[in-house]
Amino acid sequence: MSTIERSPALQGFLDAVKKAVETGAPRPETQACLRRVFAALATPKPETIGDGARLPACDLLDAALEPAIRRGGALKDVALGIAALAPLLSWDRREGAAPTASESFRDGHANTMIVGPGGIEDRRDVWVGLSLLAPDVRYPDHNHSPEEIYLVLTDGRFRHGDDDWETPGIGGTFHNKPGIVHAMASSGHSPFLAVWCLFDPRAT
Ligand SMILES: [Fe+2]
Repeated sequence: MSTIERSPALQGFLDAVKKAVETGAPRPETQACLRRVFAALATPKPETIGDGARLPACDLLDAALEPAIRRGGALKDVALGIAALAPLLSWDRREGAAPTASESFRDGHANTMIVGPGGIEDRRDVWVGLSLLAPDVRYPDHNHSPEEIYLVLTDGRFRHGDDDWETPGIGGTFHNKPGIVHAMASSGHSPFLAVWCLFDPRAT
C-alpha cells in the first residue's frame, strides 16, 4: 500500500474533474476511459513544484475560467481547482511542425502538464493537463497512442481527422480512441480552455 499522500489542492482538482466528466459525458467509451484514468490515480506518486513558467497566452487564464465558474457545480470546482494550482504550473508550447495550425498558434497557446511526465505529480501511466488557446486559434492536428478525454471549460470546437467540427459546449467532453487524429480550435471571440486526461496502459 502506498504511503504517499496527494496534496489537498491537487486531489481536490482531480476529484472535481472526475465528477464533472461523470456528470457531463454520457458516452460509455468516455466513462470507461475515465474509470481507467482514476483507477490508476488511486495510487498517488510523489509531487514536485513546477517552476511557474508562463507564456503570453497565460494572461487569458482568468478569463478562460469564468464560464466554468458561472456554470457552478463540479465545473466550478474544476475551475477553482485550476486557480488554486495556477502558481505551481509550468506552461509550455507544443513544438514541432504544425502545418494544420493557424498562424496565431505559436503565441496563442499554452499547455501545462499537471499529472504526467514532468508534471506536478510526475508519472507515466496517466497524464492530466490543460490546453489554453487565445481567441481565433486552431491547434494542429495531432495524435498519440494513449486514449484521451477532453473536458471542455469554454466554447470551442473539436474534430477527428477530416470529420465535421463538433461543439461539446461548456462542461462537455470529447473522447479520442488510441491513435486517432484530432484537433481543437477556439472561437473568434473568447479564449479556450480544456482539461485533458490520458491513460497509457503500456506504462502501468
Ligand atoms: Fe490530444
